[in-house]
Amino acid sequence: MIDARAVLAKKRVGGKLERAEIEGFVRAYARGELADYFASAFLMAVFVRGMDARETADLTRAMLESGERWCFALGRPTADKHSTGGVGDKVSIPLAPAVAACGVAVPMVSGRGLGHTGGTLDKLESIAGFRTGLSRAEFERGLVDCGVAFGAQTEELVPADRKLYALRDVTGLIESVPLIASSIMSKKLAEGIDALVLDVKYGSGAFLPERERGAELARAMLSIAGSFGLRAVAFPTCMGRPLGDTAGHALEIGESLECLRGRGPADLRELVLVFGASMLALSGAAASEAEGRARIARALDDGSALAVFERVVAAQGGDARALERWPDPRWQAARVPLLAPRAGWFRWTDVRALGWAIVDLGGGRRALGDAINPFPGLVFHARDGQRVERGERLLEVQATGARVPDAVLDRLRGSFALEDGPFEPEPLVGTPLRA
Ligand code: URA
Repeated sequence: MIDARAVLAKKRVGGKLERAEIEGFVRAYARGELADYFASAFLMAVFVRGMDARETADLTRAMLESGERWCFALGRPTADKHSTGGVGDKVSIPLAPAVAACGVAVPMVSGRGLGHTGGTLDKLESIAGFRTGLSRAEFERGLVDCGVAFGAQTEELVPADRKLYALRDVTGLIESVPLIASSIMSKKLAEGIDALVLDVKYGSGAFLPERERGAELARAMLSIAGSFGLRAVAFPTCMGRPLGDTAGHALEIGESLECLRGRGPADLRELVLVFGASMLALSGAAASEAEGRARIARALDDGSALAVFERVVAAQGGDARALERWPDPRWQAARVPLLAPRAGWFRWTDVRALGWAIVDLGGGRRALGDAINPFPGLVFHARDGQRVERGERLLEVQATGARVPDAVLDRLRGSFALEDGPFEPEPLVGTPLRA
């Protein structure tokens, strides 16, 4: 039996934990042999004192071993992408079908919205009937039949992370590099994938806004990938502005469909091309990233990615016919514009506020188990660095109800600045880091 108090005492003063100590602690907690208060104290000690690369890899292994590891006989390579989250980040929805259309299976174990960010599963559930609570067997069937399955972490997949994550959420212990890295990587390793692309966001809409903290997280995840022999690459991407032209669950499904039809916003398409190219090249399905990029572009433009998505929607119980009428033009009537109070060069300054505005409108959760209204959202008209005139429409708020609450409009007014001179917007994608 692990001496939990000795483990806590060691980490409390910044000591390095042995592999056996980490494994013993995590195993005992996952089996219910240690109370939550021991785990909370452990998480706080790691949060404050940190962990080195070896300890972080040991923590990842201990969590990974708490549950099952998938190994599906698919006869083709498998790859996944993980984003650290942001506002308007719907990349997974067009990316996974595009990659599958190019012959690489994508077991997309996704998350729900967290804080100011929307989750892929919540977005997909705005399609009537779409079911994300898949069992392992349903994941496998989806991968065999469609090449993609979108679902939540199952009960058996890294149960230690499930318990620790819930504790971190309620105790405010999310923003720690070793805890985030081990949590994400244990789930990705459990998927049994051949290759992983990490989208590490920085900027005011990211969980770790400082670029250097994002890079630290990227290095920690790549170091774990290296310890487990998983081919991985991390792209720093700008979340100092929202991604695409909309944010909000149903609106983002519309934008994903546009991307799958070979259209849609340029920044969304660019991330799908960059990540898709990497997933094909890393998993060995393409000889180079250039070849991978060309194949992903073709899958978006010739309808094959869209056909995969339609099959996935039908396979997971969704109303595939509804996609033809999406986005509904009648939504236009429910939009309230926000106008420029003066002329200037538009700059996003607080992207998090956009996410919270959607939560305020009912399009996100304040507490675990809250129902989400998929309809509310934002439509962006002004872009970073663009010259706007007084009275010009900067964005629109799509809301249910007769009027948009003043508090929401005030929040949105605080999310941008109008500068006196022109400036170059931050590049969308930075130099990739490799394992
Ligand atoms: N997503 C995860 O899966 N884990 C974290 O710790 C943070 C984001």
